[in-house]
Amino acid sequence: MSQKLIIAIDGPVGSGKSTLARRVAALMGYLYIDTGAMYRAVALKALRRGVSFEAGDALAALAGETRIDLRARDGAQQVFLDGEDVTAAIRTPEVAQAASKIAVVPGVRRVLVAEQRRAGEQGGVVMEGRDIGSVVFPDAQLKIFLIASPEIRADRRWREHQQKGDAIDLARTLEEIHERDRRDRERSDSPLVRAKDAVVVDSTAMEPEEVARLVVMLAKELA
Ligand code: DC
Repeated sequence: MSQKLIIAIDGPVGSGKSTLARRVAALMGYLYIDTGAMYRAVALKALRRGVSFEAGDALAALAGETRIDLRARDGAQQVFLDGEDVTAAIRTPEVAQAASKIAVVPGVRRVLVAEQRRAGEQGGVVMEGRDIGSVVFPDAQLKIFLIASPEIRADRRWREHQQKGDAIDLARTLEEIHERDRRDRERSDSPLVRAKDAVVVDSTAMEPEEVARLVVMLAKELA
């Protein structure tokens, strides 16, 4: 009998995690969970309330009293913050920067990691983030660490924004990627690191579908 795996996909911003995780979930018939969306939702709430990013205790309390629902719809994920659909509102550069700032607060991480464990413990999930294979599910059966060159990552982000009609500058996008990489890698609590047993996949010169097929092949060997 095939077992329902936990597939952890970690990597830096723009490495293609979301596209990969969504596709693998669809091919495996698994649930897709984007944990970055949870950090973004808390960040949006903090921005709206004017809570300082320095105020760790207040941010942790805010996370504790926040309800985040991730719902699958037509292969995409909708994000609800205390009942409000914030799927589009959390995808701005401002919220992205804010999310990487609140993500350094251990109290915020504790709350969100507990929710992520509850959501994935039954298996049959593809969960993407920064610390899924290292902290959230260190026993996940399959861990992918997805990387790509900073230039191609900036280009992908820039294209996404162009498609939505947001005018953003490519050079500024690259700078922001470097900034977020630094913050994600250097924070003391759960930094972005490759778990020892993660498979490193470099998506720089690969088509998204090729990467997805590779990961599904690895998953099927285990399931
Ligand atoms: O994947 P993303 O860009 O939507 O994530 C937004 C921010 O949240 C990112 O800067 C780092 C943080 N994050 C994290 O610290 N841990 C996770 N598991 C997921 C995201």
